[in-house]
Amino acid sequence: MSNLSKKRYTITSALPYANGPLHIGHLAGAYIPGDIFVRFLRLNNKDVVYVCGSDEHGAAITIRAKKEGVTPREVIDKYNKQIKESFENFGISFDIYHRTSEPIHHELSQEFFLNLYEKGEFIEKFSEQYYDEEFHQFLADRYITGTCPQCQSEGAYGDQCEKCGTSLSPTDLINPKSTLSGKTPILKETKHWYLPLDKYQPWLEEWLIDGKKDVLKSNVFGQCSSWLKSGLQPRSMTRDLDWGVDVPLKEAEGKKLYVWLDAPIGYISATKQWAIDNGKNWEDYWKKQANSEDESTLIHFIGKDNIVFHCIIFPAILHAHGEYILPDNVPANEFLNLEGDKLSTSRNHAVWLHEYLEEFPGKQDELRYVLTSILPETSDSEFTWKDFQARVNNELVAILGNFVNRVMVLSHKYFDGKVLMGSAFNATDNAVFGELAKYPALIEKSISDYRFREALVHFMNAARLGNKYLADEEPWKVIKTDEERVKTVLNVATQIVANLAILAQPFLPKSSTKLFEMLNFPQQDWQNAGQPDLISTNTQLSEFQMLFEKITDEQVDSQLQKLADSKAANAAANSVIAPARPNITFDDFMKLDIRVGTILEAEKVAKTKKLLKLKIDTGIDQRTVVSGIAEFFAPEDIVGKQVSILVNLEPREIKGIQSQGMILMAEDADGRLDFVNPTSSIKQGSTVR
Ligand code: 2FM
Ligand code: ZN
Repeated sequence: MSNLSKKRYTITSALPYANGPLHIGHLAGAYIPGDIFVRFLRLNNKDVVYVCGSDEHGAAITIRAKKEGVTPREVIDKYNKQIKESFENFGISFDIYHRTSEPIHHELSQEFFLNLYEKGEFIEKFSEQYYDEEFHQFLADRYITGTCPQCQSEGAYGDQCEKCGTSLSPTDLINPKSTLSGKTPILKETKHWYLPLDKYQPWLEEWLIDGKKDVLKSNVFGQCSSWLKSGLQPRSMTRDLDWGVDVPLKEAEGKKLYVWLDAPIGYISATKQWAIDNGKNWEDYWKKQANSEDESTLIHFIGKDNIVFHCIIFPAILHAHGEYILPDNVPANEFLNLEGDKLSTSRNHAVWLHEYLEEFPGKQDELRYVLTSILPETSDSEFTWKDFQARVNNELVAILGNFVNRVMVLSHKYFDGKVLMGSAFNATDNAVFGELAKYPALIEKSISDYRFREALVHFMNAARLGNKYLADEEPWKVIKTDEERVKTVLNVATQIVANLAILAQPFLPKSSTKLFEMLNFPQQDWQNAGQPDLISTNTQLSEFQMLFEKITDEQVDSQLQKLADSKAANAAANSVIAPARPNITFDDFMKLDIRVGTILEAEKVAKTKKLLKLKIDTGIDQRTVVSGIAEFFAPEDIVGKQVSILVNLEPREIKGIQSQGMILMAEDADGRLDFVNPTSSIKQGSTVR
C-alpha cells in the first residue's frame, strides 16, 4: 500500500472558477475522487489537509461579468457562495474552501513571483500580442478563440484547447477571433515575463517521465509525455488585464499575474489560512523537510483539461522556487458526458447540483453513488437518467437498502430491536465472517490505486454478501421452529450492517451516518472493519431509517424533458434572424432581372467541397452557373428542378469557370440552403418580381 503508507498528506481538488454553478461533471472529475480518498485517509488516522476554493481571477470571471452586466466582484461573490453550498450539500469534506480574491492569496502569489523574479528565472520579453481595437484590450487566454492547431477543432481558447487538452498561446490559434468584438484582432507590442519551460524540460523529463512512469495513471502519463515530446516553450506568466493579482513590479503597472500562476498557489494560500484558523504550521504540508520522511505527500485531484498545469507548469514553478515539495501524484479523470452529448454550461446541457438537490431533496448519496460507479477514470464516461434510475433502484434500494431494512425490521419485530445471541455460529456464519473480513483490504487497495469505481464494487459486494446470507437463512421462516437460530442469524446480519456502516464512510457519508445511528454504534475507524463482533450482545438498536427510495419513471421523464427543453431553447436562441436591410427604391428592385429556369445538368466542381457547376435553361438561353450548394444537394437530385435565377448579374470566374448569374436559395441561420421554387411548373423565362 505504498502510497497510503505515509503519515502526512496534502490533498487538493481543482479550484473551480467562480463563474457559474457546479454540475455533475465537476463532481465526477475532481471532487468525488478527492473526497473518497481524503475520507479514507482520515479513517486511517492520517494527518491530512484537504484544500480547495474558488478560482476568482482571469478571463473566465471578467467575461462572465460582462455577459451578466455586473462587476467581477459581484460574479465571484455570487458563485463562490453557490459553489461552496453545493460542495457542503454533497459532503465534499474540504478542511477549507478558500478564495483566491483574499489578500493572503494575493500576497503569497506576489511572493512567489518575486522569488522567481529575483532569482532571474523569468525571461522579460517584448512581443506582439493580439489586441482588440474596438475594446482597446489585449486578448489573452479566453478573450481569444480560434481553431486548434493540434486537433483542428473550433473554439479553442488562447491558452488551451479544451477538446484535446493542448496548451496554447494566442498566436498558435488558426483564424483567431476576439471574444469581445468577434473581430479579427491586430498585433500590438507589450512586455511580459515568461517562465522558461524549455529550460526545465530536462528536469521535467527526469522527474516526471523517468520518475513517475509507474505512478501516474496512463491517461496522465500519456498527455505529459506527448507535451514533452513536442518540446516545451517559454510561457508568459503575466497578462494585460484589469482583474487579478497585480504583478509586483513598478514597471509592470496595470499588469496582472497569469491566472494559472496564481490558481495553484491558491492551494497553498488556502492551507495557510486553514493553519492560522486551526493552530497548525502550513509549512509542514507544503515545504521540503530536513528529513524527507517528514515531508507531506501532495496529491492533486483534477479533470483532464488541467493536466498540463498540474504536471508541468506548477511543478516547474515549485521547482524553480526550490523550497516546496512536488506532487506525488495527479490522478486526473477524463470527462463525463450527459445523455450522449458533452456537458456544456453555455448550452445548458448539464445536471446542475443546486437544481438536482431541489428536485431530489436528501438524495445526495444516490448521486454520489451513481457518479462513483461511472467515474471517467480511464476514459470518458456517460451519465444517463435511465442508468441513474437503474443503479439506484437495482443496487442501492434492492441490495443495500433491502438488506439493512430486513435486518432492522426483523430485529424489531422478533426481539424488540435487541441484538441477541442464540445457538452457536455454524459453518455458514463463519464462512460469511471470513468473506466479510476480506473487504477492507480489497477496498483499501482499490482506493490507494485511485480505482474508486472498483472500490465501490467491492463495497456493494459486501452488501450483496449480507443480502444473500439473509435470503439463504430465511429467518422469517425459521422463526416458526427455531428462535435461537434466528437470534444468531440476526446477530450475524447486524455485524454485517455494522461493517457496511464503516465501509460506506468514504463513499456514502449520509447513509453511513444513518447506519451508525440505527445501530446505536459510534462512528468507527477503518481498522475496525472486517470484524465479526462489532455490535455486542444486548445492544438496543434504534428506529429504522429509510436509506434509499426508488427513482420513478416520472422523475426520469421529467429530467429528460428538462434537457430536451433546454436543447430546444438553445436552438431557438441560436437561430439569429438577420435584421432587415436598408430600404431600396422600386427602380433599384426593377434593375434585378430574375427568371424561372430549369437545371439541365449538374456536376461537382473538382477539388471543392461546396461548389456545383449547373447548366440552366433560362428561357432566354442555356448558361453555366457555379453555385455553393454541393453540401446540401447531390447533383443527380436537382437535375430537372426549376429554380429562380438572377440573369443580369455580372459574370464572374469561379474556380476557372465563367459563372453567368446566380440561383436564388433560402439560407437559414445555421447556413443551410434550400430552393425557393414555384409550386407548379411555370414557363421557363417567366419573370420573378
Ligand atoms: O479549470 C478550472 O476550472 C481552473 N479554475 C482550475 C484551477 S485548478 C488550480 F490550479 F487551481
Ligand atoms: Zn485541440
